[in-house]
Amino acid sequence: MDRAVEAASEFFKLPSETKQEFASDDIRRPVRYGTSSKDGTRPSRTFLKHYAHPLSEWMKYWPEKPPTYREDMGKFSAGVRRVALELMEAILEGLGLGKHYQHEEFENGLQLLQVNCYPKEPEGESAIGLAPHSDHGFLTILLASCPGLEVLDRSSDTWRVVQQPRHALHVHVGDCMEVLSNGRVKTAVHRAVLNHGEARISMASIHSFAMHEKVSVAKELVDEQDPEKYKESSFSDFLDYLMSNADKKRMSFLESLRT
Ligand code: OGA
Ligand code: NI
Repeated sequence: MDRAVEAASEFFKLPSETKQEFASDDIRRPVRYGTSSKDGTRPSRTFLKHYAHPLSEWMKYWPEKPPTYREDMGKFSAGVRRVALELMEAILEGLGLGKHYQHEEFENGLQLLQVNCYPKEPEGESAIGLAPHSDHGFLTILLASCPGLEVLDRSSDTWRVVQQPRHALHVHVGDCMEVLSNGRVKTAVHRAVLNHGEARISMASIHSFAMHEKVSVAKELVDEQDPEKYKESSFSDFLDYLMSNADKKRMSFLESLRT
C-alpha cells in the first residue's frame, strides 16, 4: 500500500509535459490524466484513471515514470481486487442470492483505478476537491494518504467525515449494487474535501462487470410488492451517458435507469 501511494505521489510530481502525454477528453481511453478546478485558476484535483484488470491487457498503457509505477500499482490493484471479490461474495450471500451468484461475471469483471491528487487546502478556506457523486460499479475500495473523504448520511442529510487510519481501506457500494439489489442496498453518495495539513493522494478502485455485460435487477428480489425498479445497463452504456451528459445539471446515470 505504501509503495502504491508513493508511486502515485511520484507520478504527480513529474513535469507537466510528461503527465500531459496522458491527457485526453476521450473517456474511453485506457489511461487518462486530467485536472479539474473549482475557481478556474488553481486545480482542486488532478487525476490519473486507468483500467487494471486483467493486468496483462492494461499495464502496457500505464505510465513508465516513475519506474516503480507499473510494478507497485500492479501489486496493489491485484490485491485490492481479491478483497473486492471476497466482499462481493459476502454481500451476495447477505442478500440471499448465494455467494456464487453471477460468479463468472464478477470474475471477468472490470477494475478501474482512479488515482487522485488533491492540493493542500489554502489557508483560511474550506474547499471541495471532488463534488458529490456516486460511483458506477458494485464496490469501490479506497486508500488515501490522509483524511478528506466524506459520505452522505441519508437519514440526517449531513456529511460524515471518513477516518483514514494508516493502511485502512475504505469500502463503499456503487450504482450497480443498488440496481442488482433492486434498491435494498443504496449507492453511497460521497465527496472529497481538501486537507488542511498536506496534499492528499487517494486511489479508488472501482469494480463492475465487463464493458458490455449488462447489470440487471436480481429476479430473486422482484415480486408483486417489489417490482423491478431499474433498467439494465452496462459500463459501456454508462460511458455513453457521461458523454451525452456534458452539462452536469441533468440527472445522474442511476436516476436515468429508474423504471
Ligand atoms: C473517486 C472518489 C474520493 C477521494 O475517485 O470516485 O470518490 O477521497 N474519490 O478521493
Ligand atoms: Ni467516487
